[in-house]
Amino acid sequence: MRTAKLGDLGVARIGLGAMGMSHGYSGAGSDDAESIRTIHRAIDLGVTLIDTAEVYGPYVNEELVGRALAGRRDEVVLATKFGLVSHTGRGPGRADSSPDSIRIAVDGSLKRLGTDHIDLYYQHRVDPDTPIEDTMGVLADLVRQGKIRHIGLSEAWAGTIRRAHAVHPVTALQSEYSLWTRDQEELLPVLRELGIGLVAYSPLGRGFLTGALRTPADVEKLDDSDFRKGHPRFTGENFQRNLRLADQVQEIAGQLGATPAQVALAWLLSKGGDIVPIPGTKRVSRVEENIAADTVELTPAQIETLDAMEPAEGGHHTDAQMQMIER
Ligand SMILES: NC(=O)c1ccc[n+]([C@@H]2O[C@H](COP(=O)([O-])OP(=O)(O)OC[C@H]3O[C@@H](n4cnc5c(N)ncnc54)[C@H](OP(=O)(O)O)[C@@H]3O)[C@@H](O)[C@H]2O)c1
Repeated sequence: MRTAKLGDLGVARIGLGAMGMSHGYSGAGSDDAESIRTIHRAIDLGVTLIDTAEVYGPYVNEELVGRALAGRRDEVVLATKFGLVSHTGRGPGRADSSPDSIRIAVDGSLKRLGTDHIDLYYQHRVDPDTPIEDTMGVLADLVRQGKIRHIGLSEAWAGTIRRAHAVHPVTALQSEYSLWTRDQEELLPVLRELGIGLVAYSPLGRGFLTGALRTPADVEKLDDSDFRKGHPRFTGENFQRNLRLADQVQEIAGQLGATPAQVALAWLLSKGGDIVPIPGTKRVSRVEENIAADTVELTPAQIETLDAMEPAEGGHHTDAQMQMIER
């Protein structure tokens, strides 16, 4: 697979998101053996960036990734996140990037992942109660101690990113970026000015852009714990209206003899060698399909058509979750 650069960190240009193997989507946790085979297949096909977080489960997703990487740790760039589990007694649903919480979080993640270092350690959400300088200070200490190698932020906006980067280089921002979630395009000039890479999460629109969900009944069939059931883009009239976006992706896929998932990924790859999508799947067949997007080349006209797609109906998170996202 071709490579990409996140700051000074080289990775294969398509990564793998492990969240859905344990958390958030239907079937999570039901077939760990297939999830582990999926991680192994991804590595065999050249994926290096594997993405998890302390809060996925919580904890069980890191444990799963740790089991999958036993004996293969050195083949990957291992990324995890802290800050959505409080180790200092803040209530659930409150971000905690206080130095005391981070020091506890990192040791737990290292243990669960079965490693002595994390390659890329992200703050999961900006903590309004802890100055970013304090958070970066403790992260810089962890770099010096060798527990982490690179620092990332997630869903932070320009002001916080600049302040953080002034304390210690930020390697990557991980934020939602896909055909139907474009806010990051406004931020890209800042990231490029500072030499920070962009890791695009939910690059398949949580599966919607693949055409896998076509009717309200498809959404109804999802597990009750599947958070798409309450997601503004997957419910009510928004869901019906958004189908036209999936249709447009499907049309271009048809022109290329590719799949819609591959078109969604190829479009992101066309945006620059500093952007790395991390599609999530817990199935070997889909990881193979997604990685094959590396060889799908969109024509300039197709890129232009996709660039001009109308915005999605509905926010990319629930209102409560949007409160934790900086804009
Ligand atoms: N920083 C953050 O706040 C944040 C937030 C969300 C996600 N993330 C990270 O980003 C990763 C990816 O995002 P995501 O999982 O939310 O969304 P995504 O990659 O856009 O979509 C994942 C969904 O699409 C399905 N899928 C995957 N490949 C497919 C294909 N080729 N055809 C049809 N369906 C396919 C998956 O189902 P199956 O698993 O059943 O294949 C899953 O339901 C996560 O795993 C996580 O590591 C980070």
